[in-house]
Amino acid sequence: MSDQSVRQAATAARPTSTVPASAENFVQIVDVVKKFGETVAVRNVSLSVAKGELFALLGSSGCGKSTLLRMLAGLEAITSGKILIDGEDLAQMPPYRRPVNMMFQSYALFPHMTVEANVAFGLKQEGVAKAELKERVQDALELVQMTRFAKRKPHQLSGGQQQRVALARSLVKRPKLLLLDEPMSALDKQIRQRTQIELVNILDRVGVTCIMVTHDQEEAMTMASRLAVMSEGQIIQLGTPNQVYEYPNTRFSAEFIGSTNLFDGHVVEDEPDHIFVETDELPCRLYVNHGITGPLGMPVTISVRPERIALTRKPPEGAYNWGRGTVANIAYLGGYSLYHVRLDSGKTVIANVSSLALSEIESPQLNDEIYVRWSASAGVVLTA
Ligand SMILES: Nc1ncnc2c1ncn2[C@@H]1O[C@H](COP(=O)(O)OP(=O)(O)OP(=O)(O)O)[C@@H](O)[C@H]1O
Ligand SMILES: [Mg+2]
Repeated sequence: MSDQSVRQAATAARPTSTVPASAENFVQIVDVVKKFGETVAVRNVSLSVAKGELFALLGSSGCGKSTLLRMLAGLEAITSGKILIDGEDLAQMPPYRRPVNMMFQSYALFPHMTVEANVAFGLKQEGVAKAELKERVQDALELVQMTRFAKRKPHQLSGGQQQRVALARSLVKRPKLLLLDEPMSALDKQIRQRTQIELVNILDRVGVTCIMVTHDQEEAMTMASRLAVMSEGQIIQLGTPNQVYEYPNTRFSAEFIGSTNLFDGHVVEDEPDHIFVETDELPCRLYVNHGITGPLGMPVTISVRPERIALTRKPPEGAYNWGRGTVANIAYLGGYSLYHVRLDSGKTVIANVSSLALSEIESPQLNDEIYVRWSASAGVVLTA
C-alpha cells in the first residue's frame, strides 16, 4: 500500500465511543504465555482493552495473533498468565457462559442453509424461544443490511455480502466481546475498503467491544481506535494509529507501519532539547529537536517519513538534515509522486512530494541532480 493511504488512515476521524473510566479494563490480558511444545507462540503479553473499543492486533504471519485471539475465545488453553473479561477470569467460566464470540479467519457459512438459517443457527443451538429467535435474527440482518437476501443461500451472495452474514451470525448472539480474525481476508481490495468502514459503523452502533486480527496495516489503521504491533509473540508497540505512525518506538514498528527512511549513526551531542547524530550516509549531521536518554557515542537510527522530505534544486543552506544525489526512480501516483533519490553515499532516500511542490521546482526528471532536506522536527530517534 502507499504511504499516502497509510498516512490518511492514520489521521482519519474514527468514531470515538465515550468510555467511562471503570470500563477502561473491560478485557485484561495479564502476562499471557502460550507454548506449543518448544514453540513459544505468545510471550508475556499484557494488554487492556476498554469497553466499546475496536482494538487491532497487527503483525506479520506467524507472530501469534490468531493464537492470542483463540485464547481470548477460550479455544486454546493458556500456558501461564490470565485473561479477565469484565472482571471475571475466563479460565473459571464454563464455555457456555463465556461472553465471547469469534469470527474465524475463514468464516465458513453453512452452504445448504439460507442466510436466515445461518444467522439463526447459534440461537437454535442455545434453545432460544421461537418468537425471540425470529426477532433477533431480523434485527441482526437489518443491522448488516441483508434483510432482502434472507432467503438466499451463501453461493448466491457476493463475498462482501457473505462477510456481512458471518458478522450477523456473530452479533446475533450479543457477545460482550467480539473477536474477528482477518475478517476481510476473503474480500478483494475495493470491496474490502468499503466493508471496513461499514463494519466500523455497525460495531459502533452495537457498542460491542471488539478485538480484531489483521496483517494489513491499512486495515488496522482505518478501523481501530488503538492497535498493538506484534512480532514473534510479543507486543512491540501499542498506541493509537497516529501515535504508532508518528512515533514508532523501534525499527520494526517504523518499517512495519508505512514506509520510512532510516539513517544509522551515533550520538555526538545530547541536550534536553536536541541531539546531533553523525552518520556516514549524509554529508552533514542529523539534528533532531528532542533529547534522548543514553550515553554519547551510542548508536541510534533516525527515522524520517517520506512525506517529511522535501526536494530542492539548490544546495540547502542549513548545516544539517540534507543530502545530495540524483533521481533514481519516479512513481507518479496522481496527487503526489514518490521520488527515489540515490545519495552520493550510495543510500537511497524516498521522498513523497505533492504535485504542487513539484511544480515549484520544475518536476525533477530521472538522473537530475537534486537535494533532499527535512526539518528538525521530522526525525524520530530509534534506539532499538
Ligand atoms: N496448534 C498448534 N501447534 C503447534 N504450533 C502452532 C499451533 N498453532 C499455532 N502454532 C504456531 O504458533 C505460531 C503463531 O501462530 P498464529 O496462528 O498465532 O500466527 P498468526 O499471527 O495468526 O499468523 P497468520 O497471519 O499467518 O494467521 C506459529 O509459529 C505457528 O506455527
Ligand atoms: Mg492467523
